[in-house]
Amino acid sequence: MDQNRLTENDIEQMSYTDFIALLDETNRCPGGKKTIRRIRELIHIDDKTNILDVGSNTGFTSLELARVTPANISGIDISESCVNQAKKSLSEDIESVRSKVTFQVASSYSIPFPDDNFDLIMAGGATGFMDDKSKAIHEYLRVLKPWGFLVMSPLTYHTQPPQKIVDEVSEIIGTTIEPMTMKDWINTVGEVTKDFELYFNESHKLSPRISKEIDEYVDYFLKKDHVKILSETVKDAIKRRWMSILKVFNENHKYLGYSIIVFRKRPVAEEPELFIST
Ligand SMILES: C[S@@+](CC[C@H](N)C(=O)[O-])C[C@H]1O[C@@H](n2cnc3c(N)ncnc32)[C@H](O)[C@@H]1O
Repeated sequence: MDQNRLTENDIEQMSYTDFIALLDETNRCPGGKKTIRRIRELIHIDDKTNILDVGSNTGFTSLELARVTPANISGIDISESCVNQAKKSLSEDIESVRSKVTFQVASSYSIPFPDDNFDLIMAGGATGFMDDKSKAIHEYLRVLKPWGFLVMSPLTYHTQPPQKIVDEVSEIIGTTIEPMTMKDWINTVGEVTKDFELYFNESHKLSPRISKEIDEYVDYFLKKDHVKILSETVKDAIKRRWMSILKVFNENHKYLGYSIIVFRKRPVAEEPELFIST
């Protein structure tokens, strides 16, 4: 889309994805850097560790993993434009990061790597965006080494949200949301295969922000170089739409959080354990 010709109507009618692309908001895994830091604490990662970042989007997770660990990281995403943006960010990073990361366009339904290849798969929040979760989970299992780890960090509800909020968020992002809890995610994987054991799980609540913080966040985007040159009418339309989206998201965040769920590929049968902490 030619940004110089944008109209107020374009801003109001464009899809949520196009609107976010226009604002160029960084796409992070749920929990952002805190999630990556937690993974590093939970799982031993060294320079022999091969990591697959599924749904790598514009590269945040892969780049951050390469900055805080010595691992080799392969990012895959179905979206060519996201992979191109990830490659651009990679090319601008320092040599020690550049030498450890690659990005390619590929689907989680047919991961272009051999069996038993990765020590760790980071699936962040991406599996929630896949229609055929079972197919993706079978592929994760195939490319993981025996006893390798699968990490998911999906957005999860800790409290049942009012239907009105679910409908409003669904309308904004243009896809029907099915509010999932951490338990729902654990069950989803468990129903697909018994070859993943649940290794670790925890959940975190998101903190809703006060109006002043939302105002400042909106202003930050209006001051970006490629936005501030737009006409006042277009900038007003951006401000209105961004503000109304963030207000709904902020309301949703009273009920929403994210979970860090670690599974392990279990190659041999094990006896169940009865007396464990809850
Ligand atoms: C919300 S972003 C995930 C961002 C971030 N990596 C995270 O951990 O949450 C979801 C990404 O999944 C990608 N995606 C959706 N279906 C996919 C599939 N079948 N295979 C690979 N990537 C897929 C989308 O293109 C998008 O970039």
